[in-house]
Amino acid sequence: MPTALKPQTTSLPLDFAPRLVAWQRSHGRNSLPWQNTRDPYRVWLSEIMLQQTQVTTVLGYYQRFLERFPTVSDLGAASLDEVLALWAGLGYYSRARNLHACAQAVREQHGGEFPRTAEALQTLPGIGRSTAAAIAAFCFGERVAILDGNVKRVLTRLLAFDGDMASSAQEKKLWLLATELLPQAKDMIAYTQGQMDLGASICSPRAPQCLLCPVSELCLAREQGEPTRFPVKTKKLKRSQRENWWLWLEHEGQVLLQQRPAKGVWAGLWSLPLFDDEAALQTAAQGLHAPLETMPRIQHALTHFDWTLHTQRAELKQRPADAQFGGEWVARERLAEYALPAPLKKMIVS
Ligand code: ADE
Repeated sequence: MPTALKPQTTSLPLDFAPRLVAWQRSHGRNSLPWQNTRDPYRVWLSEIMLQQTQVTTVLGYYQRFLERFPTVSDLGAASLDEVLALWAGLGYYSRARNLHACAQAVREQHGGEFPRTAEALQTLPGIGRSTAAAIAAFCFGERVAILDGNVKRVLTRLLAFDGDMASSAQEKKLWLLATELLPQAKDMIAYTQGQMDLGASICSPRAPQCLLCPVSELCLAREQGEPTRFPVKTKKLKRSQRENWWLWLEHEGQVLLQQRPAKGVWAGLWSLPLFDDEAALQTAAQGLHAPLETMPRIQHALTHFDWTLHTQRAELKQRPADAQFGGEWVARERLAEYALPAPLKKMIVS
């Protein structure tokens, strides 16, 4: 029987929290720009950005957002297009749309102040249980557990918890265990950060450095000899392949952009006209009276599929009728103001 289904007979390693807290204070990350503040706007902004993006990438975006939007109300008052443009390149754009919706909610329904408990924070757009807990712990010292991907790895290894993380019942069980491990309120900041730091460094997915780990003596996965067996997750993400064709039209220093539909991949971002296959592109390009130049192929990995993007480029002597393509003709020097998907930005913004 998997140990996660057995009655809980062993007691939890209560030394975990104090050891982790001591290690975090001496070896953890303590001077990231969103640390040493209890301002929930800053902590929330950083947590949303860090959800699927590495610290080194987030640093510049975080700074630019704070410069442009010094308060959550400034962000809520901005247009979604401006927020998306500033977010462009960070990926997972639903985060940016939720960020904007959340800032609007804080501005309009909470008088510009974030709520002060994890329970209330969770009711806001884009703030899930773990993010709400991180904000509440960092800003208000609330004794509440986080459980993001890194922390799931740390805790399932510590406890040799072999319940299937694809099962919500098992995940719920891990939340309960995470809650039982919490330290006193005064240690919540270092403890919360310590779990993140351990997961981002020593307790890595494929090659954990157990010799350096501050809690290796307590770690049941290590004792069993195969820490990378945890976390257990049965459902495998099925990745599919997709292929599309972009038509890059330029006329007198202007590029034709179309806004993507509000739903689906790159929702709301600006793109070149995109076609399902080469024949459809050729049909659309007929009558432009310009040679098509084949650009280097782009490979782009998204969560659910690998995308191959082909591009054909044409320099036009005459602008086609607006009815043919719709969209907007944008001067090259103004392209950076538009929210473009990262691979497109790389190709067309010089
Ligand atoms: N990833 C998620 N939250 C983080 C934080 N507060 N510091 C560093 N990396 C993180």
